[in-house]
Amino acid sequence: MSKNSLWWQNGIIYQIYPRSFMDTTANGIGDLNGITNKLDYLADLGIDAIWLSPIFPSPDVDFGYDVADYVAIDPRFGTMADFNHLLKESHKRNIHVILDLVLNHTSDQHPWFKESRKSRDNPYHDWYIWKDPSPRGGPPNNWLSIFGGSGWEFDAQLGQYYYHMFCKGQPDLNWRHPEVREALLNVFKFWLERGVDGFRLDVFNMYFKHSELPDNPKKLIGLRPFDRQVHKYEVSQPEMYPLLNEIRKLLDSYGSTFVVGETFLSSPEHTASYCGQDKLHAAFNFELAKSPWKVKRFTRAIKNWEKALEGRAWPNYFLNNHDMTRSSSRYCQDEDDARAKVCAAMLLTLRGTPFMYYGEEIGMRDISLKHSQILDPVGKRYWPFNKGRDGCRAPMQWDDSVNAGFSSTAPWLPVHPDYILRNVSKQKSEPSSLLNFYKQLIHLRKEHPALNQGNLSVLDPQNKSILSYLRQTPGESILILLNFKQKQITYQFPKQIANQNWRVLFSEKRQAKELCQEQSILILSYETLLLVAD
Ligand code: NOJ
Repeated sequence: MSKNSLWWQNGIIYQIYPRSFMDTTANGIGDLNGITNKLDYLADLGIDAIWLSPIFPSPDVDFGYDVADYVAIDPRFGTMADFNHLLKESHKRNIHVILDLVLNHTSDQHPWFKESRKSRDNPYHDWYIWKDPSPRGGPPNNWLSIFGGSGWEFDAQLGQYYYHMFCKGQPDLNWRHPEVREALLNVFKFWLERGVDGFRLDVFNMYFKHSELPDNPKKLIGLRPFDRQVHKYEVSQPEMYPLLNEIRKLLDSYGSTFVVGETFLSSPEHTASYCGQDKLHAAFNFELAKSPWKVKRFTRAIKNWEKALEGRAWPNYFLNNHDMTRSSSRYCQDEDDARAKVCAAMLLTLRGTPFMYYGEEIGMRDISLKHSQILDPVGKRYWPFNKGRDGCRAPMQWDDSVNAGFSSTAPWLPVHPDYILRNVSKQKSEPSSLLNFYKQLIHLRKEHPALNQGNLSVLDPQNKSILSYLRQTPGESILILLNFKQKQITYQFPKQIANQNWRVLFSEKRQAKELCQEQSILILSYETLLLVAD
């Protein structure tokens, strides 16, 4: 393992949804040994860390995000020995391992919750948020679940309600209870002792709720009842900051570890407030991933994130995860990957850690399902307005053999029918494939200090086609020009860089090292052009 303590800054983090990556046990569900078998592929791609979506025992009400045991491996994914093997083999290849900790809530099948609901005086009762009905009867306050309906579930035997932001099978923990706090900090320790390199914290800014549980203020506008509330009292409470200090201290005592938080219902500024020296290394800001295909919107998202962080933490960027329609499905036209290449180039040349999501590198598209095939609770609840998140969780497309080489048996979700034409094996052999494009840019990012460590200056958009920015270290300047449109367009070098001689560092459409001698340059359809100052 390299001793580079800044691996999480220089490196690229690749999210794996374990159920869908590679099945070695012929049960239709991916597993840990499947991931281990594919480490050479990942090392060759050039990534530096894998983030595994939850691998712990779970009744799968929310596919792993309802954890029934934080310190064990779901038997469908393998054993602790398989995990140790995966860790060892990853480290051998300089790949760090990041686990997804879902500590805002447990499964209702977690032994803590089972105890908690036994009686009001059970020692575990206060480990969750239990409350008597309001004096008028009904739930204690107006809090709602983002997955639909009230956030409170009545337990007839206890005569009390418990609170859940997500499914009713995902009761929220009471982080104000000292024993809960201790038990959850022990979860970090358990995995750090085993040698993991970091964590992704699921909806961490939800851990604390206002101690009085007041009603949330109402809002006039919003699609769903959930959107017609100001979520003032169940998220983003100030108690989170000292807890983050404690978590960070704990992590730092184990060396060069990394913790990234998933912020829930948060602006870029508020997300940034959780990052820094004694807080999280990074947190997810969703503005870039939510941008429509408009240069102006991407430019704004990048500037906002840089400004919000104000240099106090290293940025990070992503366009995909297991909760959103894949970027290829959002932006690409049909099977053409031209826009996916522009996305890849942006992700891999911006200042900040790039997060990739499995299959992004081959431009996997979302599957579309009939109502009867939907598994995700969100899709079940909101169909047909929101078809849920199954679409982006389909099996990885390895080759054109049965089930895309993912499994020898029918997978838990259908494979995308385009797998015959879109798969890793095919793209490996095609020099101009999306996969090879990712590899080239990952390689460039590693080779050029300006691309992985340099400053970023976003240049004002000259037109609706070109996103442009400079990455600079004292020794190197790289100009990135991304054409978001199918039509070619002339780019005028802005005054501040017009006196510079630029050479082609990368383009699929022209010779490397070509010198640009004019004051302007013609950028071709959807071209990614990287120029380096001579
Ligand atoms: C955020 C996760 O990313 C999502 O998949 C999950 O449903 C909720 N948190 C609840 O854990």
